[in-house]
Amino acid sequence: MILGGFNLSNEIKTIAVLTSGGDAPGMNAAIRATVRTAISRGLKVKGIKRGFNGLLHEEIIDMEPRHVSDIIQRGGTVLGTARCLEFKEKEYQKMGADICRKHGIDGMVVIGGDGSFRGAQALAREGIKTIGIPGTIDLDIPCTDYTIGFDTAVNTAMEAIDKVKDTSSSHERCSIIEVMGRNAGYIALWCGVANGAEDVLIPEKYDFDEQTIINHIIQSRKRGKSHHLIINAEGIGHSTSMARRIEAATGIETRATILGYMQRGGNPTAKDRYYASIMGAHAVDTLLAGKSNRVIGFCNGTFQDFDIDEAMSQKKEINEYEFEVAKLLTI
Ligand code: ADP
Ligand code: F6P
Repeated sequence: MILGGFNLSNEIKTIAVLTSGGDAPGMNAAIRATVRTAISRGLKVKGIKRGFNGLLHEEIIDMEPRHVSDIIQRGGTVLGTARCLEFKEKEYQKMGADICRKHGIDGMVVIGGDGSFRGAQALAREGIKTIGIPGTIDLDIPCTDYTIGFDTAVNTAMEAIDKVKDTSSSHERCSIIEVMGRNAGYIALWCGVANGAEDVLIPEKYDFDEQTIINHIIQSRKRGKSHHLIINAEGIGHSTSMARRIEAATGIETRATILGYMQRGGNPTAKDRYYASIMGAHAVDTLLAGKSNRVIGFCNGTFQDFDIDEAMSQKKEINEYEFEVAKLLTI
């Protein structure tokens, strides 16, 4: 059968889906789309609880269309997620593949970040057809301009920062707000622009020259700005001690706020629900097209699949021009 550009074969009878690594809003939409697309194509679907950990402990359930009712709007993941360090070892990867075979699982959809894709790669090496869907608020997956959860997380952070900015302006304070992103600065960069921050510190660009920030704060004050907002990425961290040093050097009251896990929760935005749904369907149809060891990405305006090894060997760069714009808009 040829459908939407896919040549669907019928070699695969049963697939499984799991979520792994940090949860991200929109993962439920991807689970729902995976389950319902697979069932519509005549497949059986199994859900694996708690990521690779659940696979090794055979926490495997049958999934029917009604099991994914009323979840598209919910944050988190109904399958649960976990970190499973054993899965980095070949012995456990082989065990995972044997468990898949025991349960009749011919194909697997792994929703998670780059760590989870290493697990997907390992399963593919052990003979289980595997497709990854990028699910992480960090947006740090090469080969895709979109990852599930980033849009919701950045909107949640932006709204929280607006609130902090109100009180910071009233008190004429300097505020350092730390956002998540692990080693990537995408949430920080987007909030920097969207919240009109005076400084954006991201691991990809920061040279640890605190004196430049201090000079910037003093000059802004002289130019009449009543507040100074610094968005600091988690990958740089140390916001509280930075606030103490800046206050001592400038004489301006400085407070640090670490937004933390609130950024990972909450109802997904329309974009996260839509893109995650299309990616879930795409993953199933990519499996049915006989492919394995692929990751679904959104690139140049289209949903595509990429070889996991090739995708993971690339380095994702922050766009130089966008970073420059973030700085120049603070005058
Ligand atoms: P994320 O997927 O969000 O990047 P992690 O890096 O914590 O999160 O990875 C999630 C899980 O993926 C790990 O707990 C482990 O089970 C699996 N994983 C990570 N790295 C590897 C690896 N090198 N080989 C096999 N599995 C891995
Ligand atoms: O990858 C998503 C993320 O929230 C990162 O931004 C953060 O560094 C990390 O997960 C925190 O992980 P944990 O849930 O293990 O504390």
